[in-house]
Amino acid sequence: MASDTLHVFHADRLIGRLGYDSEEQLYSFQYDEGWRQDAAAFDLAPLLPRAERAHSGSTVRFFFSNLLPEGEMLEIVSRSHGVSKYNPFGLLRKIGAECAGALKILDSDVASPDGNSYKRVTAGELSARAKADAPDVLANLGGKFRMSLAGVQDKLPALLAADGTVAVPDVGSASAHILKPNNRQWRTFPHTAVNEHFCMELARRAGMDVPRSTLIRVPEPLYVVERFDRIFTPPLEFEHKGDQFELRGEPIHRLHQIDVCQLLGLPPTQKYENPEFETAPGPDISTVTKTLSNATGETLKVRQGIIEWVVFNYLIGNSDSHAKNISMLWKNGRWVLAPAYDLLSVAVYSEDPEKLHDFAFNIGGETRYGWITGSNWLEFAKGLSVNYRYVQGVLRRLSKQLVIEADALLQELSPAIDEEERKLLARITKLIRVHADFAVESSRTIVAAAKAAKLLSLSQ
Ligand SMILES: Nc1ncnc2c1ncn2[C@@H]1O[C@H](COP(=O)(O)OP(=O)(O)O)[C@@H](O)[C@H]1O
Ligand SMILES: [Mg+2]
Repeated sequence: MASDTLHVFHADRLIGRLGYDSEEQLYSFQYDEGWRQDAAAFDLAPLLPRAERAHSGSTVRFFFSNLLPEGEMLEIVSRSHGVSKYNPFGLLRKIGAECAGALKILDSDVASPDGNSYKRVTAGELSARAKADAPDVLANLGGKFRMSLAGVQDKLPALLAADGTVAVPDVGSASAHILKPNNRQWRTFPHTAVNEHFCMELARRAGMDVPRSTLIRVPEPLYVVERFDRIFTPPLEFEHKGDQFELRGEPIHRLHQIDVCQLLGLPPTQKYENPEFETAPGPDISTVTKTLSNATGETLKVRQGIIEWVVFNYLIGNSDSHAKNISMLWKNGRWVLAPAYDLLSVAVYSEDPEKLHDFAFNIGGETRYGWITGSNWLEFAKGLSVNYRYVQGVLRRLSKQLVIEADALLQELSPAIDEEERKLLARITKLIRVHADFAVESSRTIVAAAKAAKLLSLSQ
């Protein structure tokens, strides 16, 4: 038979059926009638509303492809499961049981309710995973479990209990954290775990909406971030039952989340506004902002969140801030902008950060780091239909806060990090200072220049 079905669940509720006709290479999604009538129901995405008729074609295919890992991780997953990387249906059958957001994708048409059962992972196992070579990265842990998260980096959905125990969920139970080891290309991008924790914590201290993160050592450093698409009440504590660990209290509840590629109906390969190679270009930042505003109905909050996110990424030199690093959450019956994630300095790995030329989004028409000046921020404000003074205010505030907080955080983290890691954070701190000074100065002079131009035109 050419046609095949997977079942998409939220906890033990069937949302609908994902169909794949391999002869026609056609994807379809049909909501279950029970889900359509359910008071707790939600649409998979605004482009896939709970209609009576089935959805089909690229909207369905792209939505589900966006749940899979990308780049080298996709290759590894595809090799280790013996399923082509161009076959998202086949891959989700293998690894779709625990995805970003609320979805469980199973062969079976029955799902167990959310459970409390986990398996402990030892520091030795985590260390092996952190050190694994590409072919056997999934030989331990992830290979045995059926979990899929987008992104190009290795990561493990898990649970870090209050006593430091790390455990992975059995099928049906939910993770509460995401663990990321250092980047696999550690020669080019060393100490990314410390880098990401530092930048995320900086953003949190500067008042941005970001989940809490921490570092653990196994002894390799692992960046651990709380999942914002999960609801649980700390402290997370286990009861041991032989090999099995039972989480005390209520099971962890899943919230649905989609990224901007899913929101816009784009494949994961279109996450960059200016892609390399021959991929079609992705959305620009004003399209992203408008679409998120429309979907959430919260124009002011979305604009504020996106402007802070862009300015923060500029200040730390995070050139990889693309459309799959912005998401929306379904919370209390409506879409809201999700907290920020995947914040880390990329420019710090450049011999000359000013020559970094490939910021993911154009900032007022510019993608070269050293070339972004006041006039680009002015264009950026126009593109978002925001008063320039507002953007300038965010630039000033975040610049000031990050310079102060980065020094303080570096001091605070120093006892827990090694000398090489400390040097990297010191370089990020310096990079922030240079760009903060430059941004404040060039955003001020552009106002003076605009005033002068106005006076000039009045006098003519
Ligand atoms: N703290 C978090 N809570 C919930 N989901 C997250 C969180 N961090 C990341 N994700 C999800 O996991 C995906 C991959 O994470 P990300 O940090 O972007 O990895 P990568 O560095 O590989 O791009 C994201 O696109 C998002 O859907
Ligand atoms: Mg990412």
